[in-house]
Order: sequence, then C-alpha cells, then structure tokens
Amino acid sequence: MQGNMEMIKAILAGGKKVVALTGAGISAESGVPTFRGREGLWKNHHAEDLARPDAFEAKPELVWEFYNWRRDLVKKCEPNPAHLALVELELQLPNFLLITQNVDGLHAKAGSRKLLEMHGSLWRLKCTTCTHAREDFSELPELPECPVCGHLLRPGVVWFGEPLVPGVLKLAISQIAAADVFLSIGTSNMVQPAASFYQLAKDHGAVTVEINLEPTPNTGFMDFALHGKAADILPKLVTGLSE
Ligand code: OAD
Repeated sequence: MQGNMEMIKAILAGGKKVVALTGAGISAESGVPTFRGREGLWKNHHAEDLARPDAFEAKPELVWEFYNWRRDLVKKCEPNPAHLALVELELQLPNFLLITQNVDGLHAKAGSRKLLEMHGSLWRLKCTTCTHAREDFSELPELPECPVCGHLLRPGVVWFGEPLVPGVLKLAISQIAAADVFLSIGTSNMVQPAASFYQLAKDHGAVTVEINLEPTPNTGFMDFALHGKAADILPKLVTGLSE
C-alpha cells in the first residue's frame, strides 16, 4: 500500500513507540549535498572513495581537505522544516527515537534530543592513536594534531569498512525491534546495516513508512510510502497529530 497521509497520521498518533531513521535526503533542503545524488562528487572524488580508512592512511591531507570542506559547508547550513518536524514528533510522542546516518549535526542543531548519530558526527574529532576525543566546531589546520599525544586526529565518523561504535548498533536494533511504527526518511537504503532496519521492524510487527524524494529498493516492502521532499511532507504529517 502506498501513500495515505491521514492514515499514516492516525497510525503515528496511536503508535506507542515510534522510531525514525534518516539519511542525507532530510538535509537536502538545508543545502547539504546527498551522497549518491548528482552533487555527491567533490573535486571528482566520490565520497565513498574518501570516507574510508585506507584513503586516510594513504592520503590524510586529501581526506582532511574533504572533511574540512564539508565542515565549512555544513556550518553555514540551518535545519529545515523536516528536521524541525522530527523535533515536534519527539515532543508529541511519549516514546520516540531518532536514528540518523547523517554526520552533519543538523538534527541536534534543530533540537532533537532522543537522537542516535549512528555514523558519528563531523563535529567530533578523535585521535588515531590515543583515546582523546572531543567535539570541535572551530576551523581546523590541514592536519590537526592530538593535544595529548601529538599524533594525527581524524574525523569522528564511521567510515566504509569500519564497524559502528560499540553499543550503537545494539541499541538501534533493540529499539527498532520494540517499535510499533518505523519511519524511513530521505535514505537511499543502499548502505547496511541501516538499509535492513525496516525488515527488522517489520519482523517484529511494526508498521513501516517510507518518506523519500523517489522510490528506493525498499519501497515495495514498506506498508506506506510518501514520495516528495521531506521538508514538505514531514511538517504536514506532524501537524495536528495530538488533536
Ligand atoms: P544517499 O545520498 O545515498 O541517499 C539520499 C536519499 O535521499 C536518496 O534516495 C534521495 O532520493 C533522497 N532525497 C534527496 N533529496 C530529498 C529530499 N529533499 N527529501 C527527501 N528525500 C530526498 O544518502 P544516505 O541514504 O543517507 O555512510 O546514505 C547512507 C550512507 O551512505 C551515509 O550515511 C554515508 C553514505 O555513504 C557513511 O559515510 C558510512
């Protein structure tokens, strides 16, 4: 079954536990390029070719240049109505969790607090050698160094080929398995494990809803799908929910 806004609203309002998963599409209206769209290239490099440990090992200057460019770009971006609608959903629903694949920090900037940033954050730095880690919004040198041990710092994000931060996947799985409603928003569903979360939710009896600009490989398996801009759809979905 596909889009029926009123029916989805009723299901959301009645859902005891709602989990939302977001991807790059939710930040598109804020001006953050998606990974697999036409804007997903930087200096002719695919993000997937730079967001990986072997790329950082071989060319740390290039990878840091890419991340410093992304930090500069995202710093100028503001949350859009889709981010704000999810804050509203968190406030309206007693049991809500937002899981994001995004590293742009825009959900936190919008005010989401029940938030799991499963791929880390552009604003987090961690040492390649010691346990030093910190949040840092400042402009960084080309190759930032650890203030504790002097070794190279790296972005505090999960790269391709790396495991998720311990505990994060476990928490996501337990929350999704307990959900009554699962929302998949602005993600191409191309990257695991997030791409399979809908299946886990479905297996445990949740109603699944996709909100995306266009159909994804998962669309046919969802109970509902609404296609269009998240910044247009989500505010409508959330308005009047508690009435
Ligand atoms: P993608 O770039 O793969 O997909 C973005 C999705 O958002 C696409 O399906 C678009 O159709 C959709 N979209 C674009 N604009 C939209 C809008 N205004 N409203 C709603 N949807 C819109 O990004 P992700 O699925 O987030 O991983 O990618 C998943 C992961 O792969 C990322 O977290 C990153 C990436 O490479 C790591 O870095 C580990």
